[in-house]
Amino acid sequence: MTTTPPEAADAGPTVRPVERADLLDVYRIEQSVFPQPWPFEAFERFLDEPGFMVVESVSDAGDTTIAGYVVADLTPNFGRDIGHVKDLAVRESFRGQGLGRLLLRHALASLEARGATATRLEVRASNDAAMTLYRDHGFVHRRTVPGYYADGENALVMVRERQ
Ligand SMILES: CC(C)(COP(=O)(O)OP(=O)(O)OC[C@H]1O[C@@H](n2cnc3c(N)ncnc32)[C@H](O)[C@@H]1OP(=O)(O)O)[C@@H](O)C(=O)NCCC(=O)NCCS
Repeated sequence: MTTTPPEAADAGPTVRPVERADLLDVYRIEQSVFPQPWPFEAFERFLDEPGFMVVESVSDAGDTTIAGYVVADLTPNFGRDIGHVKDLAVRESFRGQGLGRLLLRHALASLEARGATATRLEVRASNDAAMTLYRDHGFVHRRTVPGYYADGENALVMVRERQ
């Protein structure tokens, strides 16, 4: 009879708070994904935010890769704390495996555990994949900001009330 070693059975993707040593990987993913990537220093500024998390994927050989990240924070707003998902990306070769969903779920749980009564985000009007993901998590389109992105594309502002 063959048995699966316990360490192999546990080797799913893991979401954890970012560490300084992850920042170069995060920055490289950002550069490969977005036409106007954040500068490295922007990620450094959010290092201590509990809503800045990475997902690590483990290969069959046991190698770990930072496969994606989410950056979210909390801002006081007229007596209620509002979460903001500022950045979310998964390496192209790791997409479609549920990692974006996993990152978003962890970020929302972290924001809401710290008191967020609502969470907002901006998304490119053409980004159907991200919009579907956000709608699935209770985000609704609140307004459109014309020309929000540097290339002139509109942003949809989406908001989720705590559930
Ligand atoms: C958006 C993004 C983070 C999703 O990551 P992912 O790991 O591929 O997403 P998941 O596998 O968790 O999929 C979650 C849901 O997103 C939606 N989705 C993902 N890829 C999609 C695609 N190509 N087309 C349509 N919907 C898609 C689906 O609703 C999917 O749920 P399902 O698998 O039950 O159908 C990823 O595509 C990405 O990094 N895109 C570039 C950066 C970006 O646009 N970030 C968002 C900025 S606002």
